[in-house]
Amino acid sequence: MFRVVILGSGRGSNAAAILEAQEAGQLGLARVIGVFCDKPHAPILDLGPLHDVPAFYLDPGPFKTKMSPEAEAHWVDTIERLSPDLIVLAGFMRVIKETFLKAFEGRIINLHPSLLPKYPGLRSIQRAWEAGETETGCTVHWVTAEVDGGEIIDQARVPIYPGEPLEELEARVHDAEHKLLPKIIAEIAEVNLLD
Ligand code: GAR
Repeated sequence: MFRVVILGSGRGSNAAAILEAQEAGQLGLARVIGVFCDKPHAPILDLGPLHDVPAFYLDPGPFKTKMSPEAEAHWVDTIERLSPDLIVLAGFMRVIKETFLKAFEGRIINLHPSLLPKYPGLRSIQRAWEAGETETGCTVHWVTAEVDGGEIIDQARVPIYPGEPLEELEARVHDAEHKLLPKIIAEIAEVNLLD
């Protein structure tokens, strides 16, 4: 078994896609063993009872866009107890800093809604749409200290149709994310278990 922990901050549609893939037998030997969230009332936490997986809020500390070193240490302690093989940032909207990165070096992946290195940071779909791009997409990459900057594992391309409303483009990018992320988790699990 390849042990997967998901971190998220909001809606949790990607966490849901991962859990649904698992239930459909499409996650290979990967198993989600915990979901953690930095917002006490985020919908992602409802996935716990729905999919019979532990899902918990953890205090991120006083900052808005990162965790304090003390908070990171608490997150590390809590998550380490689950002995994860892989940590998946699925809509986790905080920058991961040194304490967390060191503890799980080489074991953290992130999903981002653009064709990185284009449009790192926030509002990536909107910025691609406003710039008049003819395509955008989503990326899964290894997490390093550089925000949205680690080695790219895979991407899915999504065309932007002329005159398309932003909401429709966003929905199609999210659909692409929901397919890409579970596929990559299954692939990483397979490669690691063969090693
Ligand atoms: C996803 O689109 C994900 O790519 C993005 O947040 C959304 C989370 O949706 N992540 C980032 O922008 C990280 N930089 P979800 O909560 O429904 O899975």
